[in-house]
Amino acid sequence: MTQKTAQPRVLIFDTTLRDGEQSPGATMTHDEKLEIAGLLDEMGVDIIEAGFPIASEGDFAAVSEIAKRSRNSTICGLARANFKDIDRCWEAVKHARSPRIHTFIGTSPLHRAIPNLDMDQMAERIHDTVTHARNLCDNVQWSPMDATRTEHDYLCRTVEIAIKAGATTINIPDTVGYTYPFESAKLIAMLLERVPGADKVIFATHCHNDLGMATANALAAVEAGARQIECTINGLGERAGNTALEEVVMAMRVRNDILPYQTGIDTSKIMNLSRRVSSVSGFAVQFNKAIVGKNAFLHESGIHQDGVLKNVQTFEIMRPEDIGLTATNIAMGKHSGRAALRSKLKELGFELADNQLNDVFVRFKALADRKKEVYDEDLIALVADEATSDDNDHLQVKRLRVVCGTEGPREAELTLGIGGVDFSTDATGDGPVDAAFNAVNMLYAHHATLQLYQVHAVTEGTDAQATVSVRLEEDGRIATGTSADTDTVVASVKAYVHALNRLIQRRMKSAPDSDVKTVSYKQ
Ligand code: KIV
Ligand code: ZN
Repeated sequence: MTQKTAQPRVLIFDTTLRDGEQSPGATMTHDEKLEIAGLLDEMGVDIIEAGFPIASEGDFAAVSEIAKRSRNSTICGLARANFKDIDRCWEAVKHARSPRIHTFIGTSPLHRAIPNLDMDQMAERIHDTVTHARNLCDNVQWSPMDATRTEHDYLCRTVEIAIKAGATTINIPDTVGYTYPFESAKLIAMLLERVPGADKVIFATHCHNDLGMATANALAAVEAGARQIECTINGLGERAGNTALEEVVMAMRVRNDILPYQTGIDTSKIMNLSRRVSSVSGFAVQFNKAIVGKNAFLHESGIHQDGVLKNVQTFEIMRPEDIGLTATNIAMGKHSGRAALRSKLKELGFELADNQLNDVFVRFKALADRKKEVYDEDLIALVADEATSDDNDHLQVKRLRVVCGTEGPREAELTLGIGGVDFSTDATGDGPVDAAFNAVNMLYAHHATLQLYQVHAVTEGTDAQATVSVRLEEDGRIATGTSADTDTVVASVKAYVHALNRLIQRRMKSAPDSDVKTVSYKQ
């Protein structure tokens, strides 16, 4: 009888709420962060990096609350290499069932020049700060930022110091997405071979996607002995983003023959998380994105369709159900009742309280009156949109009428509720959206600037709903608003007003803003 040996476990460290949220415009509200953390915990993520507690009061509050609510995952916070950052981080994560402090310093020549520390001074700083962190918490992760551009001898020296000072995980970041798979593997192998005590800690890989190699680099590091992958949902993150969680997890599952590792991830929850992160961050997932893109399981060409109908494995290496994509997309219509809606939403991963379900049901009926068939994507957009408006919002879109066409002027008539009082105006513009935004600006003067305006059709057909994302910037604060409607101009104005409401909420908070990072990486 042959006995199957257990495969080595690769820990999944999700940093959507820290590195992902650092992406300009991807800021999330407190409640959104709690929701995403809850879903990550439920999906089986081993470690959630919940934020950078010293960065702002908002980050601190979110990390503390996520720590308090954590059930299975370890909750980690980021701290620079100084006692103040580490103490603040500990104050936030200490509430978790399993807390972790993650402290880092840039070790490459370029990064050493910023705090103006020579190699010996930096080595001493690493020793002191890791020791301090370890005195507070049993679980300490240390990262030499820009490790892939750090001299090998110095990298080995610093890693050895961190291990001796008590670090339990050593993370090797490819901070600027510079490395290549072969090099990524060699670096981990070199550290495991040369650093005394390396066999006593877990090595992690943290890759950025600047050259499109983050997934390959992370998997190569695992083959060389790394046992923790740092990643984000949808690959969200600064610049070209981080390693995408869904890609590494599914690669290890689908190619388990050559990547014989296991993770604790329930892959059937991937699609729902991808949709929620896309919706709350305002970062749409590109259609041809691996695993979670809209086209990832679509077969358009005749040859492919024919093959898939005869034997699904001809053109599919994984099943849509594996990532939680329901195999059938049966449309709902105006005759569908509340129970059918509840069960459909449950299938899509949404468990709504009765009052929320009632609100969504009213909107579903209105949509079904306008649109013959309501698809899964429509319902997902509807639920996401429901979460963007609140009766207590300072600004409320009450009425909008636009005139557009080949002959100008393009005009918008708008009634906006401002602090409970209705105000109306007319405005013109270069097009209907421009005219409507001008009307908002006439009624509610502000100096936020528009950074992004994006429209996506939720489904096919001219009656499709449009989801609109609007990103605004005001005094360094960035807020993203989203909305969905079958009328693109209505969705646009609602998304604009949603972004303004989020800026207003942050402005009104006496505490520093939740997503204005008041610190830089300068140590
Ligand atoms: O990319 C990076 O180097 C980081 C560190 C803070 C770990 O995100
Ligand atoms: Zn990073």
